[in-house]
Amino acid sequence: MTVREEIEQLKKEKNAVILAHYYVRPEVQELADYTGDSFYLSQAAVEQKAQTIVFCGVSFMGESARILNPEKKVLMPELSADCAMAHMADPETIREMREKYDDLAVVCYINSTAKLKSYSDVCVTSSNAVQIVRALPNRNIFFIPDRNLGRYVAQMVPEKNIICNNGCCPVHEKMNVEEIRSLKNLHPEALVLTHPECPESVCGISDYIGSTAGIIRYAQESPEKEFIICTESGVLWELNRRCPDKKFYFTASEPLCADMKTITPEKILHVLKTGENEITPDGSLIKRAAEPLRRMLDLAGQKGGKR
Ligand code: 13P
Ligand code: SF4
Repeated sequence: MTVREEIEQLKKEKNAVILAHYYVRPEVQELADYTGDSFYLSQAAVEQKAQTIVFCGVSFMGESARILNPEKKVLMPELSADCAMAHMADPETIREMREKYDDLAVVCYINSTAKLKSYSDVCVTSSNAVQIVRALPNRNIFFIPDRNLGRYVAQMVPEKNIICNNGCCPVHEKMNVEEIRSLKNLHPEALVLTHPECPESVCGISDYIGSTAGIIRYAQESPEKEFIICTESGVLWELNRRCPDKKFYFTASEPLCADMKTITPEKILHVLKTGENEITPDGSLIKRAAEPLRRMLDLAGQKGGKR
């Protein structure tokens, strides 16, 4: 039997589904029952009937799936796959902000640890952050951990006082204007589609800013044929699948999230066979981190990007 056939058989035997983020390897996305951005995957996790979820992504994603489904088993093909940005805030600063500002909401990008979520009022993803911040009754917002997404939200929701924590995604932070301009010289017709985790200078020369699902949808619906993509290059698989007649370009220093790429079909097979790598957040954290995640799902009455 091939790895794929074994995985299919074990999925049936163990009543399991595979969820995968757009940044994982193409051969993993191909195996998944659901592929999408962070928001879609958190919704898909909640809607699951299967008893076991194999989450092909980094730890905050599996953790969120488990927090939203405490009665289910969530297996991570690679337990060490982590998001550097998820740790770039701290409870002490949150406490100081709460003391300093009346009427403060702590808004936590889903790319964060369960511990940080447990100190927050509401979670957001890149596809719903603007909508949720706008809908909050609070005037003051402490946005953690990503300064780039926080800045983008502040530009889109000028009526709020948004204070940004100083974290960032090392992959998106590296995107730079010079490389994008060189690509634009080579392909002058190409539109620049950018993830809001990128620096302000990159967002400033973009034609569209949105989540991975937003970028894919924009490219699919646009009458244009060429695009410069400013996000992790794993999205290329879905872009090619949906838009076989269009061309996509990435910067020469290819944006790659090494942690996302640690997941392989062999590792999926291994966790399905053995039941190893179950993600088990601390019980009290599960309860406290569930609230901001559920509030996000309630406030964002829309679908994320899906296959
Ligand atoms: P989205 O899935 O919300 O586009 O976020 C990208 C990301 O960095 C996930 O780690
Ligand atoms: Fe985290 Fe950036 Fe990797 Fe996304 S791409 S998982 S934000 S390090």
